[in-house]
Amino acid sequence: MEKIVIQGGRRLSGKVEIAGSKNAALPIMAASILAPGKSVLANVPALRDVSTMKQMLETLGASVSLDAGTLTIDAAGCDSFEAPYELVRTMRASVYVLGPLLARFKRARVSLPGGCAWGPRPVDLHLSAMRELGAEVDIEHGYIVASAEKLKGREIHFEISSVGATGNAMMAACLAEGRTVLRNAACEPEIEALAAFLTKMGANISGAGTTVIAIEGVRELKPAQDSVIPDRIEAGTYMVAAAITAGTVRVANCIPAHCVSVISKLAEAGVQVMQSDSELIVSASRRPESVAITTAPYPGFPTDMQAQMMALMCVAEGTSVFVENIYRDRFTHVPELRRMNADIKVEGNVATVRGMPALGSAQVMATDLRASAALILAGLIADGRTEVSRIYHIDRGYERIEKKLSALGAEIWREEA
Ligand code: UD1
Repeated sequence: MEKIVIQGGRRLSGKVEIAGSKNAALPIMAASILAPGKSVLANVPALRDVSTMKQMLETLGASVSLDAGTLTIDAAGCDSFEAPYELVRTMRASVYVLGPLLARFKRARVSLPGGCAWGPRPVDLHLSAMRELGAEVDIEHGYIVASAEKLKGREIHFEISSVGATGNAMMAACLAEGRTVLRNAACEPEIEALAAFLTKMGANISGAGTTVIAIEGVRELKPAQDSVIPDRIEAGTYMVAAAITAGTVRVANCIPAHCVSVISKLAEAGVQVMQSDSELIVSASRRPESVAITTAPYPGFPTDMQAQMMALMCVAEGTSVFVENIYRDRFTHVPELRRMNADIKVEGNVATVRGMPALGSAQVMATDLRASAALILAGLIADGRTEVSRIYHIDRGYERIEKKLSALGAEIWREEA
Protein backbone atom coordinates (compact mmCIF):
# COMPACT_ATOMS: atom_id res chain seq x y z
CA MET A 1 0.00 0.00 0.00
CA GLU A 2 1.20 3.48 -0.77
CA LYS A 3 1.22 6.65 1.28
CA ILE A 4 1.71 10.31 0.48
CA VAL A 5 4.34 12.20 2.44
CA ILE A 6 4.31 15.98 2.76
CA GLN A 7 6.95 18.19 4.28
CA GLY A 8 4.80 21.21 5.15
CA GLY A 9 5.52 24.89 4.96
CA ARG A 10 5.97 25.70 1.29
CA ARG A 11 4.00 28.51 -0.35
CA LEU A 12 2.52 27.33 -3.62
CA SER A 13 2.96 29.28 -6.80
CA GLY A 14 2.54 28.62 -10.51
CA LYS A 15 -0.07 27.09 -12.77
CA VAL A 16 -2.07 23.89 -12.49
CA GLU A 17 -4.16 22.37 -15.29
CA ILE A 18 -7.49 20.96 -14.24
CA ALA A 19 -8.45 17.54 -15.63
CA GLY A 20 -11.80 16.37 -16.98
CA SER A 21 -14.54 15.88 -14.41
CA LYS A 22 -14.87 12.43 -12.87
CA ASN A 23 -18.54 12.98 -12.04
CA ALA A 24 -19.30 14.08 -15.60
CA ALA A 25 -17.27 11.32 -17.28
CA LEU A 26 -18.86 8.41 -15.38
CA PRO A 27 -22.53 8.91 -16.38
CA ILE A 28 -21.53 9.77 -19.96
CA MET A 29 -19.57 6.52 -20.17
CA ALA A 30 -22.66 4.66 -18.93
CA ALA A 31 -24.85 6.54 -21.43
CA SER A 32 -22.75 5.27 -24.33
CA ILE A 33 -24.31 1.83 -23.94
CA LEU A 34 -27.66 3.31 -25.01
CA ALA A 35 -26.59 3.15 -28.68
CA PRO A 36 -24.85 0.32 -30.51
CA GLY A 37 -21.69 1.63 -32.22
CA LYS A 38 -18.65 3.70 -31.30
CA SER A 39 -18.89 6.72 -29.04
CA VAL A 40 -15.77 8.79 -28.45
CA LEU A 41 -15.08 10.83 -25.33
CA ALA A 42 -12.11 13.20 -25.03
CA ASN A 43 -10.57 14.87 -21.93
CA VAL A 44 -11.22 11.77 -19.84
CA PRO A 45 -9.29 11.96 -16.55
CA ALA A 46 -6.84 9.18 -15.65
CA LEU A 47 -8.58 8.02 -12.48
CA ARG A 48 -9.34 4.75 -10.79
CA ASP A 49 -13.12 5.36 -10.97
CA VAL A 50 -12.83 5.79 -14.74
CA SER A 51 -10.96 2.46 -14.97
CA THR A 52 -13.69 0.85 -12.87
CA MET A 53 -16.41 2.15 -15.19
CA LYS A 54 -14.34 1.00 -18.20
CA GLN A 55 -14.21 -2.47 -16.65
CA MET A 56 -17.95 -2.33 -16.01
CA LEU A 57 -18.70 -1.51 -19.66
CA GLU A 58 -16.40 -4.34 -20.76
CA THR A 59 -18.23 -6.71 -18.42
CA LEU A 60 -21.44 -5.70 -20.19
CA GLY A 61 -19.85 -6.69 -23.52
CA ALA A 62 -18.68 -3.30 -24.83
CA SER A 63 -15.17 -2.91 -26.17
CA VAL A 64 -13.43 0.08 -24.68
CA SER A 65 -10.05 1.59 -25.46
CA LEU A 66 -8.30 4.51 -23.81
CA ASP A 67 -5.65 6.44 -25.67
CA ALA A 68 -4.10 9.60 -24.20
CA GLY A 69 -7.28 10.72 -22.46
CA THR A 70 -9.60 9.75 -25.30
CA LEU A 71 -11.96 6.90 -24.65
CA THR A 72 -13.59 4.95 -27.46
CA ILE A 73 -16.54 2.84 -26.39
CA ASP A 74 -18.02 0.41 -28.90
CA ALA A 75 -21.32 -0.67 -27.41
CA ALA A 76 -22.36 -2.81 -30.40
CA GLY A 77 -21.30 -6.02 -28.66
CA CYS A 78 -23.13 -5.38 -25.37
CA ASP A 79 -24.75 -8.68 -24.53
CA SER A 80 -24.95 -8.71 -20.76
CA PHE A 81 -27.21 -6.68 -18.52
CA GLU A 82 -25.61 -7.58 -15.22
CA ALA A 83 -23.49 -5.17 -13.16
CA PRO A 84 -21.67 -7.43 -10.68
CA TYR A 85 -21.12 -6.79 -6.97
CA GLU A 86 -17.30 -6.87 -7.34
CA LEU A 87 -17.38 -3.69 -9.42
CA VAL A 88 -20.34 -1.87 -7.85
CA ARG A 89 -18.97 -2.21 -4.31
CA THR A 90 -15.79 -0.36 -5.31
CA MET A 91 -17.69 2.47 -7.00
CA ARG A 92 -21.26 3.51 -6.25
CA ALA A 93 -21.53 5.42 -9.52
CA SER A 94 -21.73 2.00 -11.21
CA VAL A 95 -25.46 2.24 -10.54
CA TYR A 96 -25.51 4.65 -13.53
CA VAL A 97 -25.73 1.62 -15.83
CA LEU A 98 -29.25 0.83 -14.52
CA GLY A 99 -31.13 3.38 -16.64
CA PRO A 100 -29.23 2.71 -19.90
CA LEU A 101 -29.50 -1.10 -19.54
CA LEU A 102 -33.20 -0.92 -18.88
CA ALA A 103 -33.73 1.45 -21.81
CA ARG A 104 -31.73 -0.64 -24.28
CA PHE A 105 -32.35 -4.24 -23.16
CA LYS A 106 -35.55 -3.77 -21.14
CA ARG A 107 -33.85 -5.59 -18.32
CA ALA A 108 -31.04 -4.97 -15.87
CA ARG A 109 -29.47 -6.76 -12.94
CA VAL A 110 -27.36 -4.33 -10.96
CA SER A 111 -25.78 -5.03 -7.58
CA LEU A 112 -26.96 -2.79 -4.75
CA PRO A 113 -24.05 -0.53 -3.78
CA GLY A 114 -24.44 -0.82 0.01
CA GLY A 115 -23.27 1.87 2.44
CA CYS A 116 -20.14 3.95 2.44
CA ALA A 117 -17.80 5.45 5.04
CA TRP A 118 -20.22 8.27 5.81
CA GLY A 119 -23.64 6.70 5.86
CA PRO A 120 -26.18 4.49 4.13
CA ARG A 121 -26.40 6.33 0.75
CA PRO A 122 -29.65 4.81 -0.52
CA VAL A 123 -30.69 4.33 -4.17
CA ASP A 124 -34.45 4.36 -3.52
CA LEU A 125 -34.97 7.40 -5.77
CA HIS A 126 -33.29 5.62 -8.70
CA LEU A 127 -35.57 2.62 -8.18
CA SER A 128 -38.79 4.58 -7.82
CA ALA A 129 -37.97 6.59 -10.97
CA MET A 130 -37.53 3.33 -12.94
CA ARG A 131 -40.83 2.05 -11.52
CA GLU A 132 -42.59 5.27 -12.53
CA LEU A 133 -41.27 4.80 -16.06
CA GLY A 134 -43.04 1.42 -16.12
CA ALA A 135 -40.34 -1.01 -14.98
CA GLU A 136 -40.87 -3.77 -12.48
CA VAL A 137 -38.11 -3.50 -9.93
CA ASP A 138 -37.29 -6.01 -7.19
CA ILE A 139 -34.38 -6.59 -4.88
CA GLU A 140 -33.13 -10.18 -5.09
CA HIS A 141 -30.08 -11.47 -3.25
CA GLY A 142 -28.47 -8.04 -3.07
CA TYR A 143 -29.23 -7.17 -6.69
CA ILE A 144 -31.62 -4.69 -8.25
CA VAL A 145 -33.56 -6.75 -10.77
CA ALA A 146 -35.50 -4.60 -13.21
CA SER A 147 -37.48 -5.35 -16.35
CA ALA A 148 -40.06 -3.68 -18.54
CA GLU A 149 -41.99 -4.54 -21.67
CA LYS A 150 -41.63 -0.93 -22.60
CA LEU A 151 -40.76 2.25 -20.77
CA LYS A 152 -43.38 5.00 -20.76
CA GLY A 153 -42.79 8.70 -20.21
CA ARG A 154 -44.15 10.12 -16.94
CA GLU A 155 -44.05 13.12 -14.61
CA ILE A 156 -41.59 12.25 -11.86
CA HIS A 157 -41.19 14.41 -8.78
CA PHE A 158 -38.02 13.77 -6.80
CA GLU A 159 -38.49 14.29 -3.07
CA ILE A 160 -34.78 15.03 -2.71
CA SER A 161 -32.53 16.58 -5.33
CA SER A 162 -30.33 13.66 -6.44
CA VAL A 163 -27.64 13.87 -9.08
CA GLY A 164 -27.53 10.10 -9.65
CA ALA A 165 -31.30 9.56 -9.74
CA THR A 166 -31.77 12.52 -12.11
CA GLY A 167 -29.08 11.14 -14.44
CA ASN A 168 -30.42 7.60 -14.37
CA ALA A 169 -34.02 8.70 -14.98
CA MET A 170 -32.92 11.02 -17.80
CA MET A 171 -31.01 8.22 -19.55
CA ALA A 172 -33.91 5.76 -19.24
CA ALA A 173 -36.47 8.33 -20.38
CA CYS A 174 -34.58 9.08 -23.62
CA LEU A 175 -35.83 5.80 -25.12
CA ALA A 176 -39.22 5.73 -23.33
CA GLU A 177 -42.47 6.20 -25.20
CA GLY A 178 -43.73 9.78 -24.84
CA ARG A 179 -42.81 12.67 -22.61
CA THR A 180 -41.09 12.51 -19.22
CA VAL A 181 -40.87 15.51 -16.95
CA LEU A 182 -38.42 15.38 -14.02
CA ARG A 183 -39.31 17.82 -11.25
CA ASN A 184 -36.92 18.86 -8.48
CA ALA A 185 -34.23 17.53 -10.81
CA ALA A 186 -30.58 18.04 -9.90
CA CYS A 187 -29.11 21.19 -11.56
CA GLU A 188 -25.44 20.17 -11.30
CA PRO A 189 -23.19 20.98 -14.30
CA GLU A 190 -22.53 17.23 -14.61
CA ILE A 191 -26.25 16.69 -15.34
CA GLU A 192 -26.12 19.44 -17.98
CA ALA A 193 -23.06 17.73 -19.48
CA LEU A 194 -24.85 14.37 -19.55
CA ALA A 195 -27.87 15.98 -21.24
CA ALA A 196 -25.56 17.56 -23.83
CA PHE A 197 -24.05 14.16 -24.64
CA LEU A 198 -27.48 12.49 -24.84
CA THR A 199 -28.65 15.30 -27.14
CA LYS A 200 -25.66 14.57 -29.41
CA MET A 201 -26.86 10.95 -29.43
CA GLY A 202 -30.21 12.17 -30.76
CA ALA A 203 -32.16 12.55 -27.52
CA ASN A 204 -34.70 15.31 -27.13
CA ILE A 205 -34.07 17.01 -23.77
CA SER A 206 -34.86 20.49 -22.51
CA GLY A 207 -34.33 22.21 -19.18
CA ALA A 208 -31.12 20.45 -18.09
CA GLY A 209 -29.35 22.71 -15.61
CA THR A 210 -32.70 23.71 -14.07
CA THR A 211 -34.96 21.85 -11.64
CA VAL A 212 -37.41 20.83 -14.38
CA ILE A 213 -36.11 18.63 -17.17
CA ALA A 214 -38.38 17.47 -20.01
CA ILE A 215 -37.48 14.51 -22.20
CA GLU A 216 -39.40 13.50 -25.34
CA GLY A 217 -38.67 9.84 -25.93
CA VAL A 218 -37.12 8.86 -29.27
CA ARG A 219 -37.08 5.42 -30.93
CA GLU A 220 -33.33 5.08 -31.07
CA LEU A 221 -30.07 6.82 -30.25
CA LYS A 222 -26.83 6.89 -32.18
CA PRO A 223 -23.24 6.94 -30.93
CA ALA A 224 -21.77 10.40 -30.30
CA GLN A 225 -18.54 12.28 -29.65
CA ASP A 226 -17.94 14.69 -26.81
CA SER A 227 -15.31 16.14 -24.51
CA VAL A 228 -15.58 15.99 -20.72
CA ILE A 229 -16.06 19.30 -18.88
CA PRO A 230 -13.35 20.36 -16.37
CA ASP A 231 -13.59 19.05 -12.81
CA ARG A 232 -14.99 21.81 -10.59
CA ILE A 233 -14.07 19.89 -7.42
CA GLU A 234 -10.46 19.43 -8.48
CA ALA A 235 -10.38 23.16 -9.33
CA GLY A 236 -11.82 24.01 -5.89
CA THR A 237 -9.24 21.80 -4.18
CA TYR A 238 -6.32 23.64 -5.85
CA MET A 239 -7.95 26.96 -4.98
CA VAL A 240 -7.89 25.93 -1.33
CA ALA A 241 -4.28 24.73 -1.74
CA ALA A 242 -3.31 28.25 -2.82
CA ALA A 243 -5.27 29.80 0.05
CA ILE A 244 -3.99 27.51 2.80
CA THR A 245 -0.33 28.03 1.87
CA ALA A 246 -0.79 31.79 1.38
CA GLY A 247 0.42 31.30 -2.17
CA THR A 248 -0.62 32.34 -5.66
CA VAL A 249 -1.91 29.71 -8.07
CA ARG A 250 -3.32 29.95 -11.60
CA VAL A 251 -6.01 27.30 -11.83
CA ALA A 252 -6.15 26.78 -15.59
CA ASN A 253 -8.59 24.87 -17.79
CA CYS A 254 -11.57 25.30 -15.52
CA ILE A 255 -15.03 26.81 -15.83
CA PRO A 256 -15.18 29.59 -13.20
CA ALA A 257 -18.98 29.77 -13.53
CA HIS A 258 -19.14 26.24 -12.07
CA CYS A 259 -17.11 27.30 -9.02
CA VAL A 260 -19.11 30.35 -7.91
CA SER A 261 -20.05 29.16 -4.41
CA VAL A 262 -16.46 28.16 -3.60
CA ILE A 263 -15.08 31.42 -5.06
CA SER A 264 -17.46 33.49 -2.98
CA LYS A 265 -16.65 31.64 0.26
CA LEU A 266 -12.92 32.05 -0.38
CA ALA A 267 -13.44 35.75 -1.11
CA GLU A 268 -15.40 36.07 2.14
CA ALA A 269 -12.42 34.47 3.89
CA GLY A 270 -10.17 37.20 2.49
CA VAL A 271 -8.64 35.19 -0.35
CA GLN A 272 -8.21 37.05 -3.64
CA VAL A 273 -9.74 35.35 -6.65
CA MET A 274 -9.46 36.78 -10.16
CA GLN A 275 -11.23 35.06 -13.01
CA SER A 276 -11.23 34.95 -16.78
CA ASP A 277 -13.13 32.63 -19.15
CA SER A 278 -11.22 29.49 -18.27
CA GLU A 279 -8.85 30.44 -15.47
CA LEU A 280 -8.88 31.44 -11.85
CA ILE A 281 -5.97 33.18 -10.17
CA VAL A 282 -6.11 32.56 -6.45
CA SER A 283 -3.82 34.33 -4.01
CA ALA A 284 -3.63 34.85 -0.29
CA SER A 285 -1.10 36.60 1.90
CA ARG A 286 -2.34 35.96 5.43
CA ARG A 287 -4.47 33.68 7.58
CA PRO A 288 -8.02 33.38 6.24
CA GLU A 289 -11.04 34.78 8.10
CA SER A 290 -13.53 32.25 9.39
CA VAL A 291 -16.68 31.70 7.30
CA ALA A 292 -19.89 29.71 7.72
CA ILE A 293 -20.42 26.86 5.26
CA THR A 294 -23.72 25.13 4.55
CA THR A 295 -23.61 22.40 1.92
CA ALA A 296 -26.49 22.33 -0.54
CA PRO A 297 -27.33 21.08 -4.03
CA TYR A 298 -25.81 23.11 -6.90
CA PRO A 299 -25.44 26.10 -7.09
CA GLY A 300 -25.00 25.87 -3.31
CA PHE A 301 -21.71 24.97 -1.63
CA PRO A 302 -20.78 21.41 -2.73
CA THR A 303 -20.55 18.65 -0.14
CA ASP A 304 -17.56 17.44 -2.17
CA MET A 305 -15.66 20.61 -1.09
CA GLN A 306 -16.66 20.53 2.60
CA ALA A 307 -13.63 18.58 3.86
CA GLN A 308 -11.11 20.69 1.93
CA MET A 309 -12.71 23.94 3.13
CA MET A 310 -12.64 22.58 6.68
CA ALA A 311 -8.87 22.04 6.38
CA LEU A 312 -8.59 25.73 5.47
CA MET A 313 -10.80 26.84 8.35
CA CYS A 314 -8.62 24.86 10.80
CA VAL A 315 -6.08 27.69 10.44
CA ALA A 316 -8.52 30.59 10.08
CA GLU A 317 -8.84 33.55 12.44
CA GLY A 318 -11.95 32.86 14.49
CA THR A 319 -14.52 30.10 14.63
CA SER A 320 -16.34 28.70 11.63
CA VAL A 321 -19.42 26.53 11.48
CA PHE A 322 -20.07 23.82 8.88
CA VAL A 323 -23.58 22.48 8.32
CA GLU A 324 -23.54 19.31 6.20
CA ASN A 325 -26.97 18.98 4.61
CA ILE A 326 -26.27 16.44 1.86
CA TYR A 327 -24.51 13.64 3.76
CA ARG A 328 -25.14 14.36 7.42
CA ASP A 329 -22.34 12.06 8.64
CA ARG A 330 -19.69 13.18 6.21
CA PHE A 331 -17.12 14.08 8.86
CA THR A 332 -14.69 11.14 8.80
CA HIS A 333 -11.86 13.62 8.14
CA VAL A 334 -12.47 15.30 11.53
CA PRO A 335 -10.70 12.78 13.82
CA GLU A 336 -7.73 12.77 11.43
CA LEU A 337 -7.56 16.59 11.32
CA ARG A 338 -7.69 16.55 15.13
CA ARG A 339 -4.55 14.41 15.09
CA MET A 340 -2.95 17.43 13.42
CA ASN A 341 -4.01 19.69 16.36
CA ALA A 342 -7.20 20.98 14.73
CA ASP A 343 -9.89 22.06 17.16
CA ILE A 344 -13.17 20.70 15.77
CA LYS A 345 -16.38 19.71 17.54
CA VAL A 346 -19.11 17.74 15.81
CA GLU A 347 -22.73 17.60 16.90
CA GLY A 348 -25.08 15.88 14.49
CA ASN A 349 -24.53 17.42 11.08
CA VAL A 350 -22.79 20.52 12.44
CA ALA A 351 -19.05 20.91 12.85
CA THR A 352 -17.59 23.88 14.72
CA VAL A 353 -14.00 24.67 13.89
CA ARG A 354 -11.93 26.96 16.10
CA GLY A 355 -9.10 28.23 13.94
CA MET A 356 -5.54 27.68 15.21
CA PRO A 357 -2.43 29.66 14.23
CA ALA A 358 -0.79 26.45 12.98
CA LEU A 359 -1.30 22.72 12.45
CA GLY A 360 1.06 19.97 13.54
CA SER A 361 2.27 17.21 11.28
CA ALA A 362 1.11 13.66 12.01
CA GLN A 363 0.54 10.23 10.56
CA VAL A 364 -3.06 10.23 9.34
CA MET A 365 -5.31 7.93 7.41
CA ALA A 366 -7.46 8.80 4.42
CA THR A 367 -11.01 7.55 4.86
CA ASP A 368 -12.56 8.63 1.57
CA LEU A 369 -11.78 10.59 -1.54
CA ARG A 370 -12.38 14.19 -0.42
CA ALA A 371 -11.18 13.47 3.15
CA SER A 372 -7.82 12.46 1.68
CA ALA A 373 -7.65 15.75 -0.20
CA ALA A 374 -8.35 17.63 3.04
CA LEU A 375 -5.53 15.79 4.86
CA ILE A 376 -3.07 16.56 2.07
CA LEU A 377 -4.10 20.24 2.18
CA ALA A 378 -3.59 20.29 5.96
CA GLY A 379 -0.20 18.59 5.47
CA LEU A 380 0.87 21.42 3.14
CA ILE A 381 1.00 23.84 6.09
CA ALA A 382 1.66 21.54 9.02
CA ASP A 383 5.07 21.96 10.61
CA GLY A 384 7.15 18.94 9.64
CA ARG A 385 6.37 15.64 7.95
CA THR A 386 2.78 14.46 7.46
CA GLU A 387 2.10 10.97 6.17
CA VAL A 388 -1.28 10.20 4.64
CA SER A 389 -1.94 6.47 4.35
CA ARG A 390 -4.67 4.60 2.42
CA ILE A 391 -4.26 6.99 -0.47
CA TYR A 392 -5.92 4.62 -2.90
CA HIS A 393 -8.95 6.80 -2.13
CA ILE A 394 -7.27 9.84 -3.66
CA ASP A 395 -6.47 8.03 -6.92
CA ARG A 396 -10.22 7.52 -7.41
CA GLY A 397 -10.72 11.21 -8.03
CA TYR A 398 -7.49 13.22 -8.38
CA GLU A 399 -5.12 12.81 -11.30
CA ARG A 400 -1.46 12.71 -10.09
CA ILE A 401 -2.17 15.02 -7.15
CA GLU A 402 1.36 14.78 -5.73
CA LYS A 403 2.88 15.63 -9.14
CA LYS A 404 0.59 18.62 -9.64
CA LEU A 405 1.27 19.92 -6.12
CA SER A 406 5.03 19.46 -6.37
CA ALA A 407 5.02 21.34 -9.69
CA LEU A 408 3.49 24.19 -7.67
CA GLY A 409 6.37 24.03 -5.18
CA ALA A 410 5.02 21.68 -2.52
CA GLU A 411 7.36 19.13 -0.97
CA ILE A 412 5.22 16.06 -1.50
CA TRP A 413 5.87 12.56 -2.77
CA ARG A 414 4.47 9.03 -2.82
CA GLU A 415 6.10 6.16 -0.94
CA GLU A 416 5.46 2.50 -0.36
CA ALA A 417 3.91 2.25 3.10
C1 UD1 B 1 -23.10 12.61 -6.61
C2 UD1 B 1 -21.60 12.70 -6.74
C3 UD1 B 1 -20.95 12.86 -5.36
C4 UD1 B 1 -21.57 14.03 -4.62
C5 UD1 B 1 -23.09 13.94 -4.60
C6 UD1 B 1 -23.78 15.15 -4.02
C7 UD1 B 1 -21.15 11.37 -8.69
C8 UD1 B 1 -20.57 10.13 -9.27
N1 UD1 B 1 -21.12 11.50 -7.37
O1 UD1 B 1 -23.38 11.44 -5.85
O2 UD1 B 1 -19.56 13.08 -5.55
O3 UD1 B 1 -21.12 14.05 -3.28
O4 UD1 B 1 -23.59 13.77 -5.95
O5 UD1 B 1 -23.43 16.29 -4.73
O6 UD1 B 1 -21.58 12.25 -9.41
N2 UD1 B 1 -30.44 10.12 -1.94
C9 UD1 B 1 -31.50 9.38 -1.49
N3 UD1 B 1 -31.96 8.37 -2.29
C10 UD1 B 1 -31.42 8.10 -3.51
C11 UD1 B 1 -30.33 8.88 -3.96
C12 UD1 B 1 -29.87 9.88 -3.14
O7 UD1 B 1 -32.04 9.60 -0.40
O8 UD1 B 1 -31.90 7.18 -4.19
C13 UD1 B 1 -29.91 11.22 -1.10
C14 UD1 B 1 -28.47 10.99 -0.66
O9 UD1 B 1 -28.40 10.18 0.50
C15 UD1 B 1 -28.01 12.41 -0.42
C16 UD1 B 1 -28.77 13.22 -1.48
O10 UD1 B 1 -29.85 12.39 -1.88
O11 UD1 B 1 -28.42 12.84 0.85
C17 UD1 B 1 -27.97 13.60 -2.70
O12 UD1 B 1 -27.30 12.45 -3.21
P1 UD1 B 1 -27.03 12.29 -4.77
O13 UD1 B 1 -27.12 13.62 -5.42
O14 UD1 B 1 -27.88 11.20 -5.30
O15 UD1 B 1 -25.54 11.79 -4.78
P2 UD1 B 1 -24.85 10.85 -5.84
O16 UD1 B 1 -25.47 11.02 -7.18
O17 UD1 B 1 -24.74 9.47 -5.28
